[in-house]
Amino acid sequence: MQIFGVDIGGSGIKGAPVDLDPDRGDLAHERHKVLTPQPATPDEVAGCVVEVVRHFDWDGPVGVTFPGVVTGGLIRTAANMDKGWVGVEAADLLSQRLDGRPVTVLNDADAAGIAEMAYGAGKGRDGTVIMLTLGTGIGSALFRDGRLVPNTELGHLELKGHDAETRASVKAKEDHELTWERWAHRVQKYLEHVEMLFSPDLFIIGGGVSRKPEKFLPLIEDVRAEIVPAKLQNNAGIVGAAMAAKAAKAAKGR
Ligand code: BGC
Repeated sequence: MQIFGVDIGGSGIKGAPVDLDPDRGDLAHERHKVLTPQPATPDEVAGCVVEVVRHFDWDGPVGVTFPGVVTGGLIRTAANMDKGWVGVEAADLLSQRLDGRPVTVLNDADAAGIAEMAYGAGKGRDGTVIMLTLGTGIGSALFRDGRLVPNTELGHLELKGHDAETRASVKAKEDHELTWERWAHRVQKYLEHVEMLFSPDLFIIGGGVSRKPEKFLPLIEDVRAEIVPAKLQNNAGIVGAAMAAKAAKAAKGR
């Protein structure tokens, strides 16, 4: 079965039809990407989502990720996006712009997490699993026996008096010109803090850096939980968005 997934990020808005067969969980076609407009207002971004969906002449349900807290299709926070998003009924807005196609919106890290749990590094893993996406911000997805607890926002925990994502995200590494060693040390302190709170069995580390796990994972010590890089990497958000749209469709049919 194919469903369309779109991933809204700070630099790009990308999407593709996703093949959700149990042994696939991958893009059915090469993804289409447009640059995120600046400022990334709801109206401008909605236009980009429409462009990505139209590129494939897609006519069915659409799942969309957003880098903020999303409850019932409503955007509640937008730490690294245009603040005009806060309070927007994003699922309704996008559905209108897409001529009534059903749209499901969820947090970007939650989307990446459900994709990793179904098809990637978390497949078959019970217990407490925490996926962390290290990028412009830090996103989190918490699972207990495979079930997601949405919108955990662990990137905004306080670390040494600062918002954690301003110390341990990839953007923080770039902004402060940190070596891999120094950055890995910060990531370690962050993981220790999250471990103290949740005692997870497994950490899955996603975001662009999951492509270079050898640069920093071996430098991380003193964390009891197993730590593995994400497997789906760049496409996890798109796949997870499509999964969420499929689940919403199934729930409606009941
Ligand atoms: C946002 C999260 C998001 C993460 C990654 C954070 O700043 O608050 O909702 O998942 O960035 O994009």
